[in-house]
Amino acid sequence: MEGTYKRMGKVIILPEEIRNKIAAGEVVERPVSVVKELVENSIDAGARRIVIEIINAGETLISVTDNGEGMSKDDAILALNRFATSKIKNIEDLFKIKTLGFRGEALASIASVSKMEIRTKTEKDKGVFIRVEGGNILDILPWEGSIGTSIRVKDLFYNVPARKKFLKSRTTESNLIVDFVKKIALAYPDISFQYIEDGKTKFTTLGSGKIGDVIIEVLKNINLNDLIEFENTHGDYSIWGLLSKPGKLVSIKPQDFFFVNKRWVRNLSIFQALKEGYKGRILEGYYPFAILFLNVPYDEVDVNVHPTKREVKFEKEKEIFSFIENSIKKTLENYEKKFKLVELDHNIKINEENYETDNKKINKENIQLPLTSIEKAYISEKTEKYLPKKSFGFRIVGQIFDNYVIVETGDRVFIIDQHAAHERIRYERLKEELNLGLLQNVEIILPIIIDISLEDKKRIEEKREILEKFAFSWEDFGPNRIRLIKVPYEFLNFDPVSIENLFKEIISEINEKDLEVLEDKIIKSLACHGAIRSGDVLIREEMEALIQMIFDNQIPITCPHGRPYIWEIKKEELEKYFHRK
Ligand SMILES: Nc1ncnc2c1ncn2[C@@H]1O[C@H](COP(=O)(O)OP(=O)(O)OP(=O)(O)O)[C@@H](O)[C@H]1O
Ligand SMILES: [Mg+2]
Repeated sequence: MEGTYKRMGKVIILPEEIRNKIAAGEVVERPVSVVKELVENSIDAGARRIVIEIINAGETLISVTDNGEGMSKDDAILALNRFATSKIKNIEDLFKIKTLGFRGEALASIASVSKMEIRTKTEKDKGVFIRVEGGNILDILPWEGSIGTSIRVKDLFYNVPARKKFLKSRTTESNLIVDFVKKIALAYPDISFQYIEDGKTKFTTLGSGKIGDVIIEVLKNINLNDLIEFENTHGDYSIWGLLSKPGKLVSIKPQDFFFVNKRWVRNLSIFQALKEGYKGRILEGYYPFAILFLNVPYDEVDVNVHPTKREVKFEKEKEIFSFIENSIKKTLENYEKKFKLVELDHNIKINEENYETDNKKINKENIQLPLTSIEKAYISEKTEKYLPKKSFGFRIVGQIFDNYVIVETGDRVFIIDQHAAHERIRYERLKEELNLGLLQNVEIILPIIIDISLEDKKRIEEKREILEKFAFSWEDFGPNRIRLIKVPYEFLNFDPVSIENLFKEIISEINEKDLEVLEDKIIKSLACHGAIRSGDVLIREEMEALIQMIFDNQIPITCPHGRPYIWEIKKEELEKYFHRK
């Protein structure tokens, strides 16, 4: 009816051909959209093997062949219409979608902007070949082949030159395609994917069902040893995946290997939850590597909110956020617990000679360590767990480059960054002490005069209560000066310049509006300034004390800023390197 009768008004209903092109504009943005739609159809058809072939970044050819259930001749013809789908039947189905497709749009859209060939056969029907150009069916012929479907899309956008103009360079377009195929291959390790680019096979996954096999094949720069596999459930939610070990595989580029009900999605919540989960274990501005598969009840996720189905909406966004964040935190904590499980090896022979240090370099009185009598006296009963206990199951090999302590235990060697490690221990202890209200201060004998701008003076005055919680106290000392009179107990023995530097650092952070963030920044400053520095020459007892504190306590294996402080080398790695095994 529409468009077939003459009207006098200005409003008309567009003819089918234009309608399809408009719809195609949403669904088929660029070559990777075609690959995505065709591959998703193959997965929905139950394929175990999918071959994807691309020529000229998809502009000349995109071909997807599967061994799924195929289509009968009638179904294949019908499938070329908009809103033709076998995946949903009624409105209720729309709110509990289990398949990747559901709109019945993809084939019609792709067909309207390309030259398409379909070859398909089901178990019981004869095979059929269909040729379509710009949405018009040109040939329907019998075809002999095995069960499954092969769709070849040629000359994409040949009839919409405007769209072609907006494509990026070949490299960009083909990178988008290969990235997508890698992601979908990771999500479906039980399907074998072969990816061919300009006649060359780039990768083939085994379809073994093991994600590790897919990673080895498609993510060549990822070492499986740097990943932790995890899973967790909570009520109707479940999550599993792989996370980079703290300090490993960090990158400046955010990654998006996120899948919801096996659908690759872009979702800010998941991304934020991942970041929160790694908080304090990764440097600011860096991202962990993670592959996350989240499963939520089908009726709690709306997949119909984005034209290319790249985004989804959760009914219970907050719950999902905390579920992901907690799962990640728990995984990293458990990993760290295991990582540091040192089997107490009482057979370790302590050879005093091993500990020979260059005595000339050490001036014992001068060493600022956690374990001076001041700190021992200071640490309260409630946080005394951060004091070393005498239960050695390791051997200190020594210190190198005045910054790294080498420790041997069982069949492993650890190289530990003394400053970063001590910083973490102090950070954890100070945080606990702050929460318990245990931070005590001490009056400095010779008050420290600090030059300070008027604005800063006003700012610290506004935050006096907070700074006093951290055991600082000062008084006015002229227009551009203050006099620091009390400092946290453990800084008692510090020289005035160091204390001034510490206080100035805190002043520079005082503008932070979020109270929790501000407190955290101050704790980090206290932790850092009081920690053993890199360049401090340590004596054996000090190294032992430091190492013992690391192994005794349940603390992250990165410094509070997220830098790793411990590096493990297994005996077998050395043996491999030296060709002993
Ligand atoms: N490779 C295939 N094997 C078997 N059947 C297929 C294949 N590709 C498409 N079909 C059939 O054609 C129908 C239409 O496919 P199309 O991709 O256009 O829509 P859809 O997958 O149902 O929804 P969406 O537009 O969300 O992708 C599908 O519902 C399916 O029945
Ligand atoms: Mg589809």
